[in-house]
Amino acid sequence: MSKFYITTPIYYVNARPHIGHAYTTLAADVVSRWRKSKGDDVFFLTGTDEHGAKVAEAAKAAGKEPQEFVDSVALEFKDAWKHLGIEYSDFIRTTESRHQKGVVAFLEKLKDAGALCEGEYAGLYCTGCESFKTEKELVDGKCPDHNRAPEKVTEKNWFFKLSDYLKKVESLIENDAIRIRPESAKKEALGLIKQKLEDFSVSRENVKWGIPLPWDAHQTVYVWVEALQNYITALGYPKLDAYWPADVHLIGKDILKFHAIYWPAMLLAAGLPTPKEIFVHGYFTIDGKKMGKSLGNVIDPNELVAGYGQDAARYLLLSQFPFGTDGDVKAEKFVEQYNAFLVNGLGNLAARAAALIENHFNGTILFGEEQLDRAEYDRLMGEFKFDEVLKFLQAKLGELDKRMEEEKPWELVKKDKARAEQVLAGVAGGIVAIARELSPFLPSASEKIIAQFTAGSIAKGEPLFPRK
Ligand code: MSP
Repeated sequence: MSKFYITTPIYYVNARPHIGHAYTTLAADVVSRWRKSKGDDVFFLTGTDEHGAKVAEAAKAAGKEPQEFVDSVALEFKDAWKHLGIEYSDFIRTTESRHQKGVVAFLEKLKDAGALCEGEYAGLYCTGCESFKTEKELVDGKCPDHNRAPEKVTEKNWFFKLSDYLKKVESLIENDAIRIRPESAKKEALGLIKQKLEDFSVSRENVKWGIPLPWDAHQTVYVWVEALQNYITALGYPKLDAYWPADVHLIGKDILKFHAIYWPAMLLAAGLPTPKEIFVHGYFTIDGKKMGKSLGNVIDPNELVAGYGQDAARYLLLSQFPFGTDGDVKAEKFVEQYNAFLVNGLGNLAARAAALIENHFNGTILFGEEQLDRAEYDRLMGEFKFDEVLKFLQAKLGELDKRMEEEKPWELVKKDKARAEQVLAGVAGGIVAIARELSPFLPSASEKIIAQFTAGSIAKGEPLFPRK
């Protein structure tokens, strides 16, 4: 049994969760369920990023105290994950004392290691990104992700001496000691290093909603710096258990620089091992634009679950496009996709086969489970190619359907019952095998199908997916 530590980004609680957040979390859940099914000791961490100017602004706009506000939004994230059937091992909130204690210890460690110095920052800051910006990153003077002009700030900060660690980070990425996938993201990270990144602030002067810097009460820890540390504070830093280093940090492409460069550099300075892998996925876009509160184009995952059910919502989110690339979501296509794969495909085939077995064989048939290509399945899952796994299983369902149409067991029973039984046994064996491989994606439907065909007498039962 090997340990497997997988994380999602911790999400800002400035607004309710949308399907962009759900996408990463769901992917981590699917991978974690798959690794568990292989017998691994999995630790799956998610959580919420609750400090900083962006969250404080949102609390003010809602007319609430920051703590009261973050408590309510964090609950919305937990609820959304419950509706989607996300089985995380731990949910870390950065306002928890276990996080704050760990952050203080980590910052002190960085200071003792000589990795910090005092300085002044004069430049641009986008509160939407919670990030310092250069002119080059703007489009028409605005942050392209948040469609707003960054503020000009001048402040005294403590800085992390990134330049001391860049060479080492570069070589770790180059030789895949920190593996960055897909390849395009690895290139992008190496490109960022080549452009020569500046030392970055670890504290902010005028942001009250944050963790006070242990040795300078006028400063709070820069929200990104403390956020990254969630991956170790959740494990109990300054003590660390056997789960560290992370086997994979799953992130969206917007936060690559923080994870691929800043985070490993800080870990090196603190004398800790660096993450083994960073897997970067694309955005859900709506009409070509990244989904987000500031652009006002969000889709609520709860609505998907309410409209289609938990399993179907999971399927619809993960089947849209390859995980590593961007994809435009067309909500009007959801019904079509739902009916095609879940109603007419899986649901219909399982119901037809079960009904025939119930009606003509008293619900009992002997069958062996078909052996699908497990190595190929594991390879695709290991590469986060969820859309390909789903397509492969859809093709398998298509083959079984074809076998039914060609052999017509409902007619065969009248002429050659033994042959009809053989056909249905083959189909049942195929359905169970497909359900097992679908199980990380559709946990409850798969469980129902497996129980329907393997526990006691086989019967048609209720439709798994009602037609829309
Ligand atoms: N709080 C930081 C992350 C700190 S991690 C130490 C943050 N939060 S966020 O709420 O903005 O969420 C960022 C993550 O949500 C992205 O990296 C991505 O994983 C996911 N998504 C947010 N919008 C998305 C899309 N439109 N499409 C796909 N995923 C996106 O950044």
